[in-house]
Order: sequence, then structure tokens, then C-alpha cells
Amino acid sequence: MSDSDSAGVKHYIQSCQETTAKRKAYREKVRKLRFDTIAVHGMYSVEEAFAQGQGGIIEPLFPSTSQGYRDSDEMEAGLSYQIPTWCYSRIHNPTVFYLEETLSLLESYGCPFDASAFCTSSGMAAIKQAVEPLLVLNEAHHEEVNFVSSAQVYGGTFQLFNVRMKERGAKVRWVAQPWEIKEWERLVDAQTRFLYTEMPSNPQQACSDLQALAKLAHHFQIPLIVDSTIATPALLRPLQHGADIVVQSLTKTIGSGGASIGGAVIARHGLTSRHLAAASRADYAVWLKLWPARDSGPCMSPYSAFFFLNEVRTLRIKVEWFSRNTAAVADFLAAHPKVESVDYLGLKTHHLHELAGRYMRMVDSDIPTFGHLLSFTIKGSALDARRFFDCLQRIFRATDLGRIKSVATIPAISTHQQQGDEGRRLAGIPATMVRLCVGGEHPEDIIADLDQALNKI
Ligand SMILES: Cc1ncc(COP(=O)(O)O)c(C=O)c1O
Repeated sequence: MSDSDSAGVKHYIQSCQETTAKRKAYREKVRKLRFDTIAVHGMYSVEEAFAQGQGGIIEPLFPSTSQGYRDSDEMEAGLSYQIPTWCYSRIHNPTVFYLEETLSLLESYGCPFDASAFCTSSGMAAIKQAVEPLLVLNEAHHEEVNFVSSAQVYGGTFQLFNVRMKERGAKVRWVAQPWEIKEWERLVDAQTRFLYTEMPSNPQQACSDLQALAKLAHHFQIPLIVDSTIATPALLRPLQHGADIVVQSLTKTIGSGGASIGGAVIARHGLTSRHLAAASRADYAVWLKLWPARDSGPCMSPYSAFFFLNEVRTLRIKVEWFSRNTAAVADFLAAHPKVESVDYLGLKTHHLHELAGRYMRMVDSDIPTFGHLLSFTIKGSALDARRFFDCLQRIFRATDLGRIKSVATIPAISTHQQQGDEGRRLAGIPATMVRLCVGGEHPEDIIADLDQALNKI
């Protein structure tokens, strides 16, 4: 008799089937709710609150490293993933589970299919986890493995692709202008494993025609991966437009209070990839979590999950608020004599204004909305940019974004410093560029701070 033939194991599997079916039915119900309601409640119902013991109105924080089992049969059923289990918090944790449920519901909002999420220790961990299994070398065929990515991505992503993935034998092919579908078409071939874009990108706010990109990816039977950290699902839900995987740095806009680092991979069920086995494609995010991530350990801390759960409840209203303030600041900068140029998707003069407006719409209102990120270049030298920067008094100098507090950085000496002159030239990051993320302060106070600093150049 094999162990899993034991009557006790079967008993646990059967008794969990009812709970699993109930949870599935409840999720279908939640999928029909409005965005704000999902953000506030996720899968944590009144019934669930009492099932957890105390009836607490917010999801409980479970800092426990591991789950104790009633007996060896339950342990075997749990550790062979035959029943829902928390087992060990490197693999799974109840507080992280509630966050994953909420994020997957928000990213798949309005989609005819469902999705799952896998939360990670940081946004970079999410990106690494999402792409690695797609780049496994096929030794039998000795094929060159490549992937095609927008060059206008966060500096850390640029390094991950350009250096770390190259070390593993996978070559990135950069698309300089990711809004030009023809550039992507020129680079993709039979050895391409996935397409990757960031929308809008940090800091250049590049955008792509996601529907056209998804069509191209699926023509080659490969997935489209989109980092939509800046937009968040309140403004953009790439899965709706054909993307297979979304990555989020929760550290940023979703966690705008700024108290935790975290990331998420959200993947649609049944994603397209001719390189992955059917079992991995069926529910990629959960597969990543239960198998590859179990072996490498990029798990999210339950304390962070608890923090993000409370942040995500007010996501839509925060994104609307920050976007309104940013639009006012962009108008001020665009008219300032010491400013050479302003890049903000919300400005009608921005070359991607129309494309961005087609995709970035405030959820449940369909109003084009452009987020909290802008960049501008100072008239003068790199030194002038630093002088202006050093004179800011209210705005924090920080390599950060999406905060409730306005933050600014000079990408060439911070976020994009690692990639060198050539990499920055490719990504369009001059030394006079300042990245500014406007938060929740009154916009007039932020404008006053910018004005006094600009007038000191
Ligand atoms: C667009 C984008 N993606 C990913 C990341 C990486 O996220 P984390 O800092 O949480 O690792 C960042 C960080 O700034 C980012 O801006």
C-alpha cells in the first residue's frame, strides 16, 4: 500500500473538497462585485471571519512560520498539496493568501477568465520568478534562447535582463520604442520565449499597444508579460487586453504608505506558452509559488501582506487623487521658463497621450487618467539639475515612487545609474532629467516648493 492510499489521507482529501468547492463558488460571487468592494473585502467574508475564530473585521495576521497537523495523514495530504494547506510560510501563509486573492481579483476585474497571484518579497523577485521558468534552456536542441523586451523599463529590470539573464544564457533583445509594433515584429522569432513591457514605464512613461503586442505574442505562442506597477489595476488591467502575466512592485503605488517592500506575479489561467508544460500553464502563479519558489524562497513576509492588504482597500481613490494633483503640477512645470520639457502622459502635447488614454482609464468610470509619475528636464547642465534638486524642501529626495508623500529623484545618478551611459542613452534618460511622483499633499504646496527650487538655478 502506498502512503497516499491510506484511508486517513483519503479522508482529509474528501473533507477538504467541500471547503475548496465553497471557496470557489464564493470567489465567483466576489468576481461579480465592483472594484472598490473587491479591494476592501477581497475573499475575507463575515463567514470567513468567524471560521478564523474571532470574527475580526480585517484579515488576521498569521506570523507563524508553519502549520501544525492533526496527524501524519493530514501532514502527508498537506505536503503533497492534495489539500489546501499553509504548511510552511516559505511556501504559503494565510495572510499572504488573502492578499493574493484580492490582487488576482483586481487584476482580472472585468475579464471573462480568472487569474491567480503569487506574492513575493519584492517587485524584482516577482519579475525574476515570472521570467525564469520561461527561459529554461533546452539542452537537447541547443537552441539560442531569447526574449524581447522594451528598453524603457525600470533600471533594476534592465540589469536583471541585460546581466543576470545573459549569465544564464538567455539573450534580451531590446525594443527602443515600445509603442512601435513594427520594432517588436522585427525582433521576435521562433526562439523567443516571451515579450515583456512596462506600462507606463519608469521614468519615461513609455506605453505599448498592448492588444497588438498580445496578438503578436500569441501568434508565436508565447506569453506577454506587463509590469504595470505605475498604473496599478485601478488604471490599467493588462490581462483584459490580452496579456498573460502582470508583475507588480507592491512597494510602490499599491503600498503608497511606504512601510514595506513586496511584489506580485498575477497570471491568467491557461496562459499561452509553447515552452511550458500544460500543468504549469494551467495556473502559472500558483505553480510558481508551490514549485519553483518553494526551492528558491522569495516569499513575502506575512507582516508585509498585512500592510498591503490595508493599503489596497483605498487604491482607486488614491490613484485618482494622486493623478489629479500630478496633472496640476505638470501644467505648472510645462509653463515654467527654467524647464526644458515635461513628460506627462496627461499632457495633450505628449506623443503617447492618445495611446495611453486608450488603455489607462479609471476603473468603473472609463475616464482617461494618467497616474502620478512625471519627469521633466531642467534647462541647463547636469549640475543645474542637481542644484535644483538640492533646494527642494517639501519634496523628499528619494529613489521611490507612488508615495502618499511627493518624492523626486535624478534617475541618471540613482535608479538608472547602474546601466551606464550607453544604457541610459538607449532608455532616453539624460542627466538633466528629474523624476517626480506627486502624492497626496495639496498641489499648490508642491508647486510652491518646485518654484522656489527652480528659481535658485
Ligand atoms: C516599474 C517598476 N517595476 C519594478 C520595480 C522593482 O520593485 P521593488 O523595488 O519592489 O523590487 C520598480 C522599482 O522601482 C519599478 O519602478
